[in-house]
Amino acid sequence: MTQTGLTPRLAAWRLVNAVTTEGRLLSELIGGGALARFAPEDRARAQRLALDTLRAADRADRMLKPFLQKRPPLPVRNAMRMGTLEIWSGVAAHGVVNSYVEIVGRDSKIASMKGLVNAVLRRVSEERPGAWDRLPEPRLPDWLRGPLIDAWGKPAIVGIESAHFAGPVLDLTAKSDPAAVAAATGGTVLPTGTVRLAAGVQVSALPGFEAGDWWVQDAAAAMPVMALAPKKGERILDLCAAPGGKTLQLAAAGAHVTSVDISESRMARVEENLARTGLKAEIVVSDAFAYDQGGFDAVLLDAPCSATGTIRRHPDLPHAKDGSEFGDLIEMQAALIDHAMTLVRPGGRLVFCTCSLLPDEGEVQIEAALEHNPGWTVDADAVRLPGIDPSWLTEEGGLRLRPDYWADRGGMDGFYVAVLTKPA
Ligand SMILES: C[S@@+](CC[C@H](N)C(=O)[O-])C[C@H]1O[C@@H](n2cnc3c(N)ncnc32)[C@H](O)[C@@H]1O
Repeated sequence: MTQTGLTPRLAAWRLVNAVTTEGRLLSELIGGGALARFAPEDRARAQRLALDTLRAADRADRMLKPFLQKRPPLPVRNAMRMGTLEIWSGVAAHGVVNSYVEIVGRDSKIASMKGLVNAVLRRVSEERPGAWDRLPEPRLPDWLRGPLIDAWGKPAIVGIESAHFAGPVLDLTAKSDPAAVAAATGGTVLPTGTVRLAAGVQVSALPGFEAGDWWVQDAAAAMPVMALAPKKGERILDLCAAPGGKTLQLAAAGAHVTSVDISESRMARVEENLARTGLKAEIVVSDAFAYDQGGFDAVLLDAPCSATGTIRRHPDLPHAKDGSEFGDLIEMQAALIDHAMTLVRPGGRLVFCTCSLLPDEGEVQIEAALEHNPGWTVDADAVRLPGIDPSWLTEEGGLRLRPDYWADRGGMDGFYVAVLTKPA
């Protein structure tokens, strides 16, 4: 880690505080302009420091614990977490300690704890070499860890936590030629055709960005459209479409795509992506429930969900959420499936997917949908994609993807995919 000045540290500290004390997500904070007044380099540094701190917070807490008689308020603890991470990333301790003492000292509500921050971070910097790496990898919070252990077992969750701590890679979907994109960008082609690069490169500087030869899309996120297997000329509805990765895949396959999403601002990103790649889709800003043009050959429903499959990319999520909203999301997904089914022509298909690790947002939804929609069947063969491991196929005929899969290749987001067929 390179030296970070006071300004990005202060900005990162504010972001981490907003996530941990107000339950805000980094995407909404940054999208809302939280870093807009900073120079691009400082903005990038602040964002990276906030992400790294949230990703490593549990490990930092373990290191800090012996030096604290009781837990200080979160803003103070966050300053200590950030300082600990920076010190153990190799940044000179003196500057780190002074910065966080100054940051805490600026806030009158916690300024009295400056001395504690100073003393604790000094103790952290005096720990024996290797102390940080000997600590366990950060764990998920109990509200999420418990249900995930119930679903997948403890060894799987330890693997998932390891993937979260390792962080994401950069995956690209090629518009037409994965091998050519891999050769141009220095990436490798995964068994499913996604092109994989190491994280940390500037996306817009990669060859083929301007020409629209590819778009950023996690390997797991590309699989629902592969399972849908769009054919040239088919009429396909992408029902929760923004920011549009799956719309682009459908359009690139030559389908006539209608993309619906409730969010105007997110749909603007779909339009940008279509313009960059020279692909076409009809854009409709609408609540999916209000959209009633039916008769589609296929409908893709990438439903709003807990996003627990994307924690590698969004380590803020377990800090900002506590699972209390998930019940409403699960109900909405069930209603969206029922509505989407009405928009499929007889004999057509519905692909349901979520970037969730919770069976309630995947396997359980499909079992329930089949139970109360007579005649619909699961097409288990459709999710047997080339390159996937057969153990990822589920009992009810879906595909379960987890961050601990392809661990030696850099993992993948968590996803669930199932293809249903409407009676003819
Ligand atoms: C998981 S994201 C979709 C990602 C997208 N399919 C892709 O591949 O880029 C879920 C989307 O559902 C949208 N959404 C949430 N509630 C909706 C509703 N009632 N009607 C339509 N879209 C909705 C959100 O705005 C969000 O863009």
